[in-house]
Amino acid sequence: MSQQLKIAVYPGDGIGPEVIDEAVRVLKRVEESDRGFALELTTLPWGATYWKQHGQVVPDDFLNLLRPFDAILLGAVGWPALIPDGETLAPLVKIRQAFDQYACVRPARLYPGVRCVLADKRPGDIDLVVIRENSEGEYVDNGGRLKRGTSDEVAVQTALHTRKGIERILRYGFDMARTRRKKLTMATKSNAQRYGYALWDEVLEELAPQYPDVASERQHCDALIMNFVRWPERFDVVVASNLFGDLLTDLGGVLAGGLGLAPSTNTNPERRFPSMFEPVHGSAPDIAGKGIANPIAAILSAAMMLDHLQLPAAASRIRRAVERTLADGNQTPDLGGQLSTRQLGEAVAVRLE
Ligand code: NAI
Ligand code: MG
Repeated sequence: MSQQLKIAVYPGDGIGPEVIDEAVRVLKRVEESDRGFALELTTLPWGATYWKQHGQVVPDDFLNLLRPFDAILLGAVGWPALIPDGETLAPLVKIRQAFDQYACVRPARLYPGVRCVLADKRPGDIDLVVIRENSEGEYVDNGGRLKRGTSDEVAVQTALHTRKGIERILRYGFDMARTRRKKLTMATKSNAQRYGYALWDEVLEELAPQYPDVASERQHCDALIMNFVRWPERFDVVVASNLFGDLLTDLGGVLAGGLGLAPSTNTNPERRFPSMFEPVHGSAPDIAGKGIANPIAAILSAAMMLDHLQLPAAASRIRRAVERTLADGNQTPDLGGQLSTRQLGEAVAVRLE
């Protein structure tokens, strides 16, 4: 009996459906040749088109509709010419919170055949993964404004760091480091933020002895950002708060060849709820409809989904096919090539072992 997996596919807006078509093509090709699992894909027609018919981007009960799935594969949302971004992106934030997807995992790996923005760096030099705390920190909606519009105006925005939140994200990082090169770097800023990041430092110190096989360290985030550029090869797993993770992953993305290649997860590690897999990029209205979006970020996100669904062999097949595709010089315009979205997706599909 093969394992049945129920996947919600939410292509979204702009280039979202274009890149998701290719991710689905590759997934189906893997499924056909792997007798171990069967995917039941349900496409959710949400986003700008749904909004035109119903005046909202998702149905009211969207969380209940998503809950029974094993995973969610998302393209991208946003169509700012028609709908304010706040409205299109709000359901994503609700999904991440309601399903406690507290680990946002963003690998940055430079593949052979892809030009690096850093001089003298080769593919083996950039292979790190940033784990961004996705549920608290600087992005909790906690603050207020006083005396609006006057010259005495005051704004207060308070970050929220909990021992529980820090501990679970660090444990997730240590566990991942054990499957990789066994090194963990934590972003801190306890020299200037003496409460929140002091707690991060303390929790790291408490946990480190429980993972004696992992070399752990902390770096102030300003230095860490500089070191990403000068010594990317020294990093393996990097754990960061919500804000620092946001900043580090844009840099990580560009070091590994750009947005068109950068995958991401919103993971609930305990698997109490479905996790969500999506490219880092948005809906790219500037190139939507032209058929030139790079589908690799979406394809690699689908591979991360298979990893989460405990199908590592199938996930590796996809990654190896992507590696060969790029090494053979197949590129969409964002990488300097001339292939269409569909041609690049097909190039990956035919290279699956
Ligand atoms: P974006 O990521 O959509 O595009 C930034 C630039 O990168 C554009 O020039 C675009 O053409 C290029 N680009 C992005 N993905 C690409 C790909 N796969 N292949 C080739 N080129 C690619 O960010 P932007 O323009 O700031 O936002 C557009 C919309 O997407 C907005 O509505 C925004 O709110 C939304 N957005 C949604 C996200 C999500 O669904 N999680 C994440 C980020 C933005
Ligand atoms: Mg960002």
